[in-house]
Formats: sequence, C-alpha cells, structure tokens
Amino acid sequence: MGGKNRYSLGKKVLVDSSALLNGKLFLDKKRGMKNTLAGKDVVSISNLSREEIELVLKAAGKMKSGSMPELLKGKILASCFFEPSTRTRLSFEAAMLRLGGSVIGFAEAGTTSARKGESLSDSMRVIGSYADIIVIRHPQEGSARLAAEATETPVINAGDGANQHPTQTLLDLFTIRECQGKIDDLHIALAGDLKYGRTIHSLSLALAHYPVRLYFVAPEILNLPDSITHELRKKGVKFSFHEKLEEVIPKVDILYMSRIQKERFPEQAEGFENTCKLKKGHLEKAKKNLKILHALPRVDEIETAIDATPFAHYFQQSANGVPVRMALLALILGKLDLA
Ligand code: CP
Repeated sequence: MGGKNRYSLGKKVLVDSSALLNGKLFLDKKRGMKNTLAGKDVVSISNLSREEIELVLKAAGKMKSGSMPELLKGKILASCFFEPSTRTRLSFEAAMLRLGGSVIGFAEAGTTSARKGESLSDSMRVIGSYADIIVIRHPQEGSARLAAEATETPVINAGDGANQHPTQTLLDLFTIRECQGKIDDLHIALAGDLKYGRTIHSLSLALAHYPVRLYFVAPEILNLPDSITHELRKKGVKFSFHEKLEEVIPKVDILYMSRIQKERFPEQAEGFENTCKLKKGHLEKAKKNLKILHALPRVDEIETAIDATPFAHYFQQSANGVPVRMALLALILGKLDLA
C-alpha cells in the first residue's frame, strides 16, 4: 500500500472559498502561525511539532473564550468508538455540535459490521466516504494508524490500546498552562500505571518539547516502556523514577495521577497498592500551588476527600476536552482563522 506518503499527499486540504476571500485563513499574522494541521491525521502525539501543539493550545483558548456556532456547519464527524468512553467520545461530539457540525457514529463495536467480520480497513474506507473527519478509539495498538492509511479523510486517534491518546495530551497541556500560567520549568510527576497508561505515554513525549523536570512514580512492574524513556533521553529531558508518592509530592507543581489499566494486564496486577493511591494526608507537604490532574475515569487512586481541596483540578481538566477538541476539529478541517 502507498501508505502514509500517498495519503499525506492525497489528503484533501479543506479550504472554504469564502474564508479564502478574507485572506486570513491558515495564518496568524502576528506570529506567522501557519495552520499546518489542515487535512492532517493525528495518530500519535509525535505527529505534532511543538509549533503545532502551540497552535492547538492557542486555538483552544479562542474556543474557550468565544462562540463560533456556525464554523463547521455542513461538516460531518464520524465518531467511531470500538472501546468504552465517556469523556473523549462525548467531548468530541459536543465539540462538533457546538461548532454547528453534525455527528454520525457508534459507541460500541457490537453494533457495527465488525461483528460480521469486516476488517477495520474496509470499515474506515467506507466511513471515510460518509464523513469529513473521523475520530477512532480501538483496543488494538496501531489501529488508528491502520485507519488513517485506509482513507483520505483525516483520522484522529482517540486512544489505541495501551499506545497513545494524543488529544488527551493536548487538553492536559492546555490545562497545565491554564492552571500554572506556563509549562516551561515546571516540575511534573506522573504516577500510577506508566506501563499501560496511554495518556502517560503521549503526555511524556509531548512534555519532551518543553524544559520541564519529570518524576515517574510507579512500582517496578508498571514502569514506563523503554521506548519512551529512550525518546526522553534522546531529547535531553531530566527525569527520575520513584516508588512512593511521598518522595515527590513536596517537589512538584503538577501531580498527574493515572488509573491502573487492569483491562490491559496480561499478568496478575499486584504490589502497587500503596504507591498508586493518593490520600489527603499525602498533601500536607505539598507546594501551595500544586495541582492534581487525572485523565479520568478515576477508580480509587485519588481519595474523594481530595476533590474539595484547591489541589484538585481533574474536573476542570476534563471540561477542557470540549474547547481543545473544538480547536483540533476546526484546524484539521481548515476552518480556523487565527489572524
Ligand atoms: N480520559 C478519557 O479518555 O476518558 P474516557 O475513557 O471516558 O474517554
């Protein structure tokens, strides 16, 4: 198959002629911020340069502060969820509806022709002919890339197995900057299931674009995959490994907790009980401005008594899923004017 080269060349760049008339499309005149995301797939966070990440964050700020109810009128999002989701699916769908577009799709594979044995490639080729943009979540690692190779319609990865969750990362970065005023120079701990947690993988790789200090907290059996630590070392990121939350809490500005991904465990999950559960008492020595983030859903890794403290920021974080995904949809569909 011609693969990415063929499709990246062949992907249509969706330029609206009326938007072109105003001469502003794709360009931020102040900073020369070109919209290089138009027509692109977002399969991995590594597909995005730091400039493209910044473009999404800037566009998300615009979406959060204003309303553009007709921006994506006439556009169709195919929302294809082969694995359970609350936040990602509903925030993508809300984002499309808030911009005046329409949504088709499914929330479980059991209602689709995958049940009859249709391949993912065939399904995506067909769905790509019905929609202007596709969002896919699937339990198999690499499924989003396969989907992107099957259609010229832009594909966004909403989580592929234990691999990546790039749009969660964009909203995580947006939230970090919003609650701390910056990303550069922050001390950030990522804790919990570093092995199977796709949000951890994408966020670690994205943070490598910024001068930050990272602390990874997990028991040995749930530590970060070598492929990610290798990438961090290559980029000169400063990081260390820890087994106990208490070792890092006094030092950090952001504590990013994650759920144990039991559904992805081939082996018995044991030995992490005390390292991955955050209790209110742990926060006594925290910096005043510490913010706790979590992609959610939470099981029991953050004690609910923490929700009412000023440290808790995970519900604001999940709310940011809508403006960030609005920004991403509008940019990929070539409809956002940042000038
Ligand atoms: N954060 C996240 O991906 O949540 P959902 O699984 O509910 O989409």
